[in-house]
Parts: sequence; C-alpha cells; structure tokens
Amino acid sequence: MDEPLDAFSIRLPVLIRPCVEADLPALDDFSRFVAHHVPVRELYEQHRSGRALILVAEVNGAPGGQLWIDLERRRGELAGEIWAVYVLPGLRGQGIGARMVRAAEQALEARGCRWALLGVEVDNPDARRLYERLGYTLAVTTPAPEAPEPSARGAVAQWVLRKALRAAGTQG
Ligand SMILES: CC(C)(COP(=O)(O)OP(=O)(O)OC[C@H]1O[C@@H](n2cnc3c(N)ncnc32)[C@H](O)[C@@H]1OP(=O)(O)O)[C@@H](O)C(=O)NCCC(=O)NCCS
Repeated sequence: MDEPLDAFSIRLPVLIRPCVEADLPALDDFSRFVAHHVPVRELYEQHRSGRALILVAEVNGAPGGQLWIDLERRRGELAGEIWAVYVLPGLRGQGIGARMVRAAEQALEARGCRWALLGVEVDNPDARRLYERLGYTLAVTTPAPEAPEPSARGAVAQWVLRKALRAAGTQG
C-alpha cells in the first residue's frame, strides 16, 4: 500500500539574481524559518534604495532560496553583513547555499567592500561548517540579547564569522 509508484531524478536550472517585487510572497514564506525582525516589505525597500541587497536563487523559475546583505551597518569598516541564508528543504545539499554566498561576496567586492561578515546562531553548527569550508573564520561570539525581539527561532548567541574579500580591481 505504501510502496512508491515511481522514482526518477530531475535536473533543474538555477539562477541567482537580485530580488524583484514578484518574489515577496515567497520571501514572506521563507521568513517564518529565519530570524527576521523586520517585515519583508521594509527590507525590500532597503534593497530598492541600495542599503541592502537581497539575492534570490530561482530554481526552475520559482524562488528556492534567499540571502540578505546589510550594506549599511558596517559600511564604515568596508564590510557587508550576510544573513538570513535559506534554501527550501527539498533543495538543500545541492550547492545552492554555497553559490549564493559566493554571489554575495562578488556583489560586495563590486561595491568596494573588504570584508564579508556572517552571523550564525550557535545552535547551527552545520551552517557554520558550510561557511568555514567557504573560507570564513570566527571573529567573535556575541551573547544572546537580554531583551530579545520576538523571532521564529528565539534569541540565541551568535558566532560572527568573517572573510577577507578581494579588493575591487585586483586580479587572482
Ligand atoms: C544552511 C543552508 C542555507 C545551506 O544551503 P544548501 O543549499 O543546503 O547548502 P550547500 O548544498 O551549498 O551545502 C550543504 C552544507 O550545508 C550544511 N547544512 C547546514 N544546515 C543544513 C540543513 N538544515 N540541511 C541540510 N544541510 C545543511 C550541510 O551540513 C552541508 O554541509 P556538509 O556537507 O559539511 O554536511 C540550508 O541548509 C538552510 O536553508 N538551512 C536552514 C536555514 C539556516 O540554518 N540558515 C543559516 C543561517 S546562518
């Protein structure tokens, strides 16, 4: 009765691109699984004004993942902060997360940033391992906020990881 009726594999095209307005319903869905304290619409306005950059992994024509970059908070340190990296459960383990992080680094390099920062909650060692494989190292561990804002995942201490980027215009 519970036997599968068919089994096969498929290959799907993936495009990593800046977010557009039509993505917002999907990003609203994703926001239930990552620690957002700001409405998606507000973050999208930051993206439109250049204070943030939202990347979407479009898989076979539909949003399958996202990554947010805060371009504003660490501008003085020539650093961008990557956060809210998310890939739909059924699409994980295929390299989409790693390719989104690489695309984010390229976008930061193009904007003259020297550093990519990435916050990972300390209960997420799998994600930390992925970022370490991509060249990130631990900069500091920040404690959980004392008066946390409500979030889907609760208030947890964070590892802040960082990676030196290639300065714009350098080769190699
Ligand atoms: C973390 C995440 C974005 C990685 O996306 P992905 O497309 O699976 O990443 P890749 O295929 O490039 O790399 C796979 C690696 O991610 C790790 N990973 C982290 N969390 C994972 C999860 N929940 N499920 C599967 N793999 C996960 C895997 O362990 C794997 O590393 P390993 O080979 O050392 O085991 C994705 O797993 C996800 O959306 N997780 C839930 C949200 C989250 O934790 N985001 C990170 C916030 S900093």
